Amino acid sequence: MGKGVTVFGSFVTDLMARSNTLPEPGETVMGNFFKISPGGKGSNQAIAAKRAGADVDIVTKVGRDQFQKLAFESFGNEGISTEFIFLDDDKSTGIALILVAEDTGQNIITVVPGASYNIKESDIEKAKEIILKNDYILLQLENNLDATMKVIELAHERSIKIVLNPAPVVPLPEELYKKIYVITPNESEAERLTGIKIKNEDDIKKACEVFHKKGLDNVIITLGEKGAYLSTPETKRWLEPIEVDVVDTTGAGDAFNGGFVAGLANGMSIIEACEYGMIVGGLSVTKMGTSISMPTMLEIQEYITSNVE
Ligand code: RIB
Repeated sequence: MGKGVTVFGSFVTDLMARSNTLPEPGETVMGNFFKISPGGKGSNQAIAAKRAGADVDIVTKVGRDQFQKLAFESFGNEGISTEFIFLDDDKSTGIALILVAEDTGQNIITVVPGASYNIKESDIEKAKEIILKNDYILLQLENNLDATMKVIELAHERSIKIVLNPAPVVPLPEELYKKIYVITPNESEAERLTGIKIKNEDDIKKACEVFHKKGLDNVIITLGEKGAYLSTPETKRWLEPIEVDVVDTTGAGDAFNGGFVAGLANGMSIIEACEYGMIVGGLSVTKMGTSISMPTMLEIQEYITSNVE
């Protein structure tokens, strides 16, 4: 099979505005940049993985509206097949309102998932061949949970390695954890899923232990500018972020996940893939935007040549 990854996830249209600082509730601030671009955690991760060297298949859903065109164009431009972009008759294409602060590069996001949250059993049936095609499948939580669970079930039955980025976090059924190969929450998602309030490094290790007790072998907690913590039966280790000038952190988690799974699909160990994901995630924050800021293979190789080898 080789380098293949199926991404089962969302496509949404990102409406992004940047201002010097983020507005407080009730406040209006003047912005200095606006862009409409392809987004959604599934789409961002698919594009990151493709640019980072994986053969990617995407299964997603959009509405019959003006925004669907962006999905077809964006995946088409990346060389990702658009065959399994389903069209919903009732819901519109999802959108995300993203505000980015120029002073810190931080963001706040509201997602209205629309068609992404209306994936039907019949869609999954039609996409079964693609869901079961590759060694790895990458999922997030921007689709309706029943569909996500169904896909996990199918992939697990075929021993496909499932990477779950539990974002945006929702409570998950306990039986799910045993089926996951790697879970990649950020700090707040790890807190919500484990019940451990993360205040220090010990708490991160405790949260990993809770995941392990639930039956999950491989846990990566991403920590933004503090890097990531990897906990597997073989290793427990901190991973440092790469040093870059931060412009916009939106989609950095998606870049990490895409890079990580591309690394796995290319035969890297979990540790190596995690380090590779850190590079992809780090490079993505040097540009504005989400999927449009995912580093190209050339940029990744240039970084590795100048900084790693
Ligand atoms: O992770 C960033 C993404 O979250 C954005 O592209 C936005 O669409 C939301 O889904």
